[in-house]
Amino acid sequence: MLSQTIQAALNGQISVEGNSSQIYLAMASWAEVQGFEGISTFMYAQSDEERMHMLKLVKYVNQRGGEAKISATVEPVLDLSNYKVLFKQLLIHEEKVSQSINELVGITLDERDYATHNFLQWYVSEQIEEEANARYILDKINLIGDDKGGLYLFDNEMKNFTSQIPTPQ
Ligand code: FEO
Repeated sequence: MLSQTIQAALNGQISVEGNSSQIYLAMASWAEVQGFEGISTFMYAQSDEERMHMLKLVKYVNQRGGEAKISATVEPVLDLSNYKVLFKQLLIHEEKVSQSINELVGITLDERDYATHNFLQWYVSEQIEEEANARYILDKINLIGDDKGGLYLFDNEMKNFTSQIPTPQ
């Protein structure tokens, strides 16, 4: 059985993951309209991933005798001036999500809820991976500079980038 504190904290994270899915969906749609086929493919997959992160939490809360709360999502506020700022925002957002997961893990220790602590380790690993991916992509973007040919290749490479991101079990 989950304590009220843990349940509220997990429900907060459900909201974070749901909003993340919306953010990446907005990025995917923007990239698609701009003609960045690879970037949009990557962002659509990111959005799906975040929904999976959310679902995993929903199922865990309900399985442990709690009640998952599905709240309204927030309309994404993004700087969509170019593809570079898009990926900078992705990294900043993932860093925020990592912080949120860390706080959640801290609460499980305060509450001595070791089952939830254990459950959250998957998210801890996932955040390491997601931040690493975002930094890797930003490094590539910095290498491209203003080279149009480089951008074409980068967009092409992004089509298959999803294969490097682990899927939730
Ligand atoms: Fe579910 Fe990208 O954090």
